[in-house]
Amino acid sequence: MKPLKLERAESQRPAAAGTSAVPAMPGAYPAVRMRRNRKSHWSRRLVAENVLTTADLIWPIFLMDSAEARTPVAHMPGVDRLNIAEAQRAAEEAAKLGIPAVAPFPYVDRALRDPRGSEAERANNLMCRAVRAIKEAVPEIGVITDVALDPYTSHGHDGVLDDRGVILNDETVGILCRQALALAHAGVDCVAPSDMMDGRIGAIRTALDAAGHDEVQILSYAAKYASGFYGPFRDAIGTNATLIGDKRTYQMDPANSDEALREVGLDIAEGADMVMVKPGMPYLDIVRRVKDAFGVPTYAYQVSGEYAMLKAAALNGWLDGDRVMMEALLAFKRAGADGILTYFAPEAARILAGK
Ligand code: PBG
Repeated sequence: MKPLKLERAESQRPAAAGTSAVPAMPGAYPAVRMRRNRKSHWSRRLVAENVLTTADLIWPIFLMDSAEARTPVAHMPGVDRLNIAEAQRAAEEAAKLGIPAVAPFPYVDRALRDPRGSEAERANNLMCRAVRAIKEAVPEIGVITDVALDPYTSHGHDGVLDDRGVILNDETVGILCRQALALAHAGVDCVAPSDMMDGRIGAIRTALDAAGHDEVQILSYAAKYASGFYGPFRDAIGTNATLIGDKRTYQMDPANSDEALREVGLDIAEGADMVMVKPGMPYLDIVRRVKDAFGVPTYAYQVSGEYAMLKAAALNGWLDGDRVMMEALLAFKRAGADGILTYFAPEAARILAGK
């Protein structure tokens, strides 16, 4: 590969004066040589347009109600489910590394799941206890929690179903409001509705404000696609086992991009403080369009399947794991993301800190 490149470079060099095959066009080669700015490390640093910092990272973690400290998540090497005490330690680690926020997701015992996801509303459920414990141990770290019913429903959907299996939008929104309130009472900093029901952002904002929680932020999963890349996450929270059918009647069609702008526009109008595009890497075009169109704080979720792909290739020795991790994260910044939800957060933070 290398000699080939050299050959081409040589052939592009201007021939001796008078015989030049390349017309001397002003503003073009050979007067302009794009490679000049790339020739040394100091220069590449100076001309870099985007930079990834630890302040760009949100760390999703998995919780479980268990005496055991941690159990591994299949298909996500390096990622474990944590009990509450271990989640406190993870939050301490995140704070030490300078990661601004953690995003806990629960593995809910099967016995607690029902068709309405009632456990989601309970003031003392696993998530609420974890939020309290994390905020107690590390008050300065941001805690961002999903609002959606899938970890709690016996059928694995983000909403409640009628007897024909249709997801009931407005009834679900009422439950989501109560779920958000339970989390707010527990002390969460930011709720992140990931359910894709219509009108939920406005309803949750109104409910939070009415209960005196006007300081709680809303990060909307505004453009969330019906994606195969969520597979390992669904193992982690045990919804691959419960999910009946798929989520295409509420999550977006991967074919669409104008529709993402409508979704984001509506969520901002309803009161979202921040918006998210999900999954991440196959949807960088959406991140760019959203950022350009609205200019609001925009996040991308590098989801479980993206993590699994990169990890698996790295563990097989097929890719340089650290290198592709940092490259992928930087690409989110280049696409216009203000930050990234990533299971790589602590690994990336350690590299950024030179540790
Ligand atoms: C649930 C939810 C999902 C993810 C975040 N919140 C999965 C889904 O919609 O089925 C996916 C995250 C990941 O894959 O890492 N509402």
